[in-house]
Amino acid sequence: MEDRVVTNSFVSDDQFEKNIRPQYLTEYIGQTEIKENLEIFIKAAKMREEPLDHVLLYGGPGLGKTTLAYIIANELGSDIRTCSGPAIEKSGDLAAILSSLEPGDVLFIDEIHRIPRYIEEILYSAMEDFTLDIVVGSDATSRNIRIDLPPFTLIGATTRAGDLTGPLRDRFGIVSKLNYYNVDELTDIVKRTSRVLENTIDDKAAIELAKRSRGTPRIANRLFKRVRDYALVIGDGVIDLKITKMSLDKLKVDPLGLDETDYNLLKSIIEKFNGGPVGIDAIASSIGEEQTTIEDVYEPYLLQNGFLKRTNRGRVVTKKAYDHLKIEYQDKMF
Ligand code: ADE
Repeated sequence: MEDRVVTNSFVSDDQFEKNIRPQYLTEYIGQTEIKENLEIFIKAAKMREEPLDHVLLYGGPGLGKTTLAYIIANELGSDIRTCSGPAIEKSGDLAAILSSLEPGDVLFIDEIHRIPRYIEEILYSAMEDFTLDIVVGSDATSRNIRIDLPPFTLIGATTRAGDLTGPLRDRFGIVSKLNYYNVDELTDIVKRTSRVLENTIDDKAAIELAKRSRGTPRIANRLFKRVRDYALVIGDGVIDLKITKMSLDKLKVDPLGLDETDYNLLKSIIEKFNGGPVGIDAIASSIGEEQTTIEDVYEPYLLQNGFLKRTNRGRVVTKKAYDHLKIEYQDKMF
């Protein structure tokens, strides 16, 4: 669901992200408040020689939650173990991970909201008292046993903090919301990527790329890769404004970062639902996307930029969107 740009390189996207990932808080661009707070909390934990409190990172896909988790572990001087909510299918899966932790380890659980409820309960005592309560045996011979765990830090990442149960959310001492990046920050991220990959991009091109990255570093870095391909094959390898505009147009990423799905979404509301209000489920089936993908990926950016409004009767396309799509706006008041 997060693949917004065609990828066709031999290095997987995950590998690419790992290669260009910053290692320290000072290298991490943007999210200033979160960084400043984390710096203090990490220092304090180290001074007390205690594990850092559990951290919940939430925010849209591609905003750097995983990157931040790796940085936190690195800054703590800890090893990091990673897993993801959907991969935890049985309570034994989670028990196995928890019981293999070493003192001071960071355990990163991506998409933590997708752990089934009855398994999630194992985390409560693990987080609170570093104990693991499990049932061994079956039926008549079953009994509860308690295993002590080493002190560790859980870092949970989620796109939907609202989907977390109260008891789980309450057990995180540090809760940080990652927001969209502004154009200056994204420009710095693009320039940093260009230095890491040793591929020059000029200032105007970096700004253009940043503007079209819908506030999201992952998109900026993916678009960088594609523009770099055009620059290499069509130009002389240097990424300038002209080649950037040309390639992003070809990729159907418009000057404000809207892509084909955004266009489909807005057009479908305008053409099929007379501009709205319309429910998210009707939008989802009309454009053939998952409702959660629309809610987590597309809609937040359209809302933030004033192309879409949420009303209690459903979603409504704004005049700004009609203007942007060059469709005549008819005020329904008249
Ligand atoms: N790559 C992904 N997110 C980043 C960030 N916030 N700063 C620097 N590089 C990044």
